[in-house]
Amino acid sequence: MQKTETKTIAWTKNNFYSSDYNQMELSFFRHQEIAKVHAFQKTHEAYTETPLFQLKNLAKELNVADIRVKDESYRFGLNAFKVMGGIYAMAKCIADKIGEDIENLSFDILKSEQVKEQLGDLTFISATDGNHGRGVAWAARELGYHSVIYMPKGSSHERLDAIRKEGAEADITDLNYDDAVRYCADLAEKNNWIMVQDTAWEGYDEIPLWIMQGYAAMAKEVTEQLDASNGKPPTHVFLQAGVGSFAGAIAAYLVEHYREEAPRIMVVEPHQADCYYRSFSSPTGQRELVTGDMDTIMAGLACGEPNTRAFRVLRQYASASFSCDDRVSALGMRIYSSPIGDDSRIISGESGAVTLGLFHYLRSDSNYIRANNEVGLDENSRVLLISTEGDTDAKHYRDVVWKGHYPNQ
Ligand SMILES: Cc1ncc(COP(=O)(O)O)c(C=O)c1O
Repeated sequence: MQKTETKTIAWTKNNFYSSDYNQMELSFFRHQEIAKVHAFQKTHEAYTETPLFQLKNLAKELNVADIRVKDESYRFGLNAFKVMGGIYAMAKCIADKIGEDIENLSFDILKSEQVKEQLGDLTFISATDGNHGRGVAWAARELGYHSVIYMPKGSSHERLDAIRKEGAEADITDLNYDDAVRYCADLAEKNNWIMVQDTAWEGYDEIPLWIMQGYAAMAKEVTEQLDASNGKPPTHVFLQAGVGSFAGAIAAYLVEHYREEAPRIMVVEPHQADCYYRSFSSPTGQRELVTGDMDTIMAGLACGEPNTRAFRVLRQYASASFSCDDRVSALGMRIYSSPIGDDSRIISGESGAVTLGLFHYLRSDSNYIRANNEVGLDENSRVLLISTEGDTDAKHYRDVVWKGHYPNQ
């Protein structure tokens, strides 16, 4: 499919939006379910909540009531949120194999000699732009198992090295993300390895659901952090999407949690991989796939095939979808790195920062007044953003932030 590359930002309202309560999709993201997931994640000694910063001066500058940013660069020392999914999904796989309920298990029990003797050697395999694979490799090493990770064409060598340092057998392929996923699925089948993929398709949706439930724990943290600081619920949430597992999970938890007070959900993608934007603008509302090379600095978002479950959630609950040029993400990285007054400084990588870059355009560029108004942003808006990664490719981060690569017009 042809790529959207002409405008800085293209956007569409989602005509398939409905606020009806969808029991089938939302039941997996109920508080009781996610509390169990979160309780398991907390059994790891390195678990800490990531900060939820309030950018008061930026809110004043952009004339909204509140801006909160969850900074996932602090997650488990891995510089990105992804491990929240991997750690839970891998634990669930092991729990199922030993016939135990995850509620009765801790990370330490899973890595015990007793469990290992019971299971023997296991190999986990995954395809990744970097962050998910690093999380899988890290969790596999911690649990005492092997991991095999394949990355799409053009992946960063710095991100590859970070995965190898976790002990994984890892390489960059000459395939795009979606084809690398298929390649890993074949290898998993041939070798009887466990595929821990962060996207679902027909016939493969149990492990991706566990991954999404692992991500939903971040939204649970946000609601708890807001409550603890007497913060009101957000009115608008901007969520960046690759396959959409992250956005779908956060959206599902927030809709389930806040119900009629649920925020408007905005999906944000790079032009080169804007499968949600294309699907929401199509008359049928079916999943539209983007194929071929997806050459964007937002490596984590360079996925052309929506996760089938996340797609069902976002097609119902997202209000709008935005397709962005790389310069939008570069702007977000620079704003985060150079805060106003005593706002916190946030180190946000290419896939982490695009939502702030977009939000800045909507609030300050006259070309986007219509989009701004149609999504209901005004001085009363309370905006939630999640910076999903830090400088996971530090050299590229400095090229953008220090040297001004991808300048804004
Ligand atoms: C930093 C970062 N943000 C966002 C995403 C998007 O997540 P998803 O593919 O679930 O949409 C990714 C995916 O790898 C990522 O690495």
